[in-house]
Amino acid sequence: MALAHDLGALAIDIAREAGELARVRRTEGVAVAATKSALADIVTDADREVEALIRGRLAVERPDDGFLGEESGAERGTSDVTWVVDPIDGTVNYAYGIPSYAVSIAAVIGEPTPAEWEAVAGVVFNPASGELFHAVRGEGARLGDRRLVVNAEPTAAGALLATGFGYDPATHAGDLARVARVMPLARDIRRAGAASLDFAFVAAGRLDGYFERGLQPWDHAAGALLVTEAGGLVGGAGDGGTVSSDLAVASGPMLFERLLTAAS
Ligand code: IPD
Ligand code: CA
Repeated sequence: MALAHDLGALAIDIAREAGELARVRRTEGVAVAATKSALADIVTDADREVEALIRGRLAVERPDDGFLGEESGAERGTSDVTWVVDPIDGTVNYAYGIPSYAVSIAAVIGEPTPAEWEAVAGVVFNPASGELFHAVRGEGARLGDRRLVVNAEPTAAGALLATGFGYDPATHAGDLARVARVMPLARDIRRAGAASLDFAFVAAGRLDGYFERGLQPWDHAAGALLVTEAGGLVGGAGDGGTVSSDLAVASGPMLFERLLTAAS
């Protein structure tokens, strides 16, 4: 689809510029601007500035499109396209200086809600490593120029899995119980701190699978497309088994049902 290809190219261009701004701001030192849903849920000045850059560029290049961003909210457009943006995914890593954070930009078509939209282009860019993961619906997922393929099935040692924990302490017991249910499938578990990169790593075969409760649309919009375009499956506990804040699961096809069942 020519439109999806063009949206993907624009997303790459903007993600590179936005990522460079985040990287430079990180070298200058990071100030926490506010806390959000919980004391552990922070936003830095850089999150806001990077989202403003992305939103401003999209307003110039695609003025009719809608926007849904973590830091500046939602605005419906008059076209069928909405941009779903996390300016810095992995903000806590960013604030601590852990080089594992990403700009995540997706273009989706249809109603701007995960159960109803179709993601057509997605980019996850880690400016600290320089790695840029991107996908266009029907054209595959890539890391730079290299085509990505998920791991078909885990080795006999079990699956290398990733997960995450929400910011609200009240959710931790449930999240830990989920880890306990999933553990028999695992050779080990990672908690790297940026959901978009967890999806990207599943797409790249660096992880066999990923599961997490509590994700917001901007955490998974681009990453989920990376996984499906790399031959994997993504699902959850929302309408029709879609990803929602109740659950997100991503893996290669052989592991998926077992992981979804254990994580549910
Ligand atoms: C968070 C990260 C983290 C995940 C949280 C997200 P943020 O996003 O993706 O890995 O566990 O659920 O909220 O706050 O860094 O943009
Ligand atoms: Ca964020």
